[in-house]
Amino acid sequence: MSKPHLVSAERVKYPPRNPKDIYEFFDSTGMKQLGKVRLVPAGMGGWYLADFMIYKKYRGNGYANEMMDCVLKLARKKKRKSIFLWVAATNTTAIKVYEKYGFSRIVDDKVCMYILLLGPK
Ligand SMILES: CC(C)(COP(=O)(O)OP(=O)(O)OC[C@H]1O[C@@H](n2cnc3c(N)ncnc32)[C@H](O)[C@@H]1OP(=O)(O)O)[C@@H](O)C(=O)NCCC(=O)NCCS
Repeated sequence: MSKPHLVSAERVKYPPRNPKDIYEFFDSTGMKQLGKVRLVPAGMGGWYLADFMIYKKYRGNGYANEMMDCVLKLARKKKRKSIFLWVAATNTTAIKVYEKYGFSRIVDDKVCMYILLLGPK
């Protein structure tokens, strides 16, 4: 594996979450797990993105950008039509990533909702 990549984490089992929805994010060597994300099938061919996380010791190195890159590639591969998520309005680092990748804020409150519509590419 020569690029950062997402690996389905079906072996992670902690109810009530569906382990199939969890993806672990690895560096280009495949040796270091840098973070994880949950991608839950939602209606109309969309994904609900949750628990988007880079582990503390790896933060500030651009990995969230790389993980979002992987998420969007996977979404296109799986022909997902949209991705939505909730984020605290104070979470400026996460919001920076979401907006950089084209997510639009559609609920503007203490907790904001963002959505990205995925066209064919
Ligand atoms: C949000 C999170 C995923 C960001 O991960 P990260 O790997 O540190 O992020 P990156 O290094 O890729 O940086 C993303 C952007 O934020 C900026 N940034 C990074 N750390 C920052 C900080 N402490 N303060 C301000 N901006 C910061 C970076 O410069 C980068 O911007 P750029 O793309 O314009 O250069 C990480 O902080 C995290 O896991 N937080 C806890 C879980 C969480 O809150 N998840 C979001 C739930 S909705």
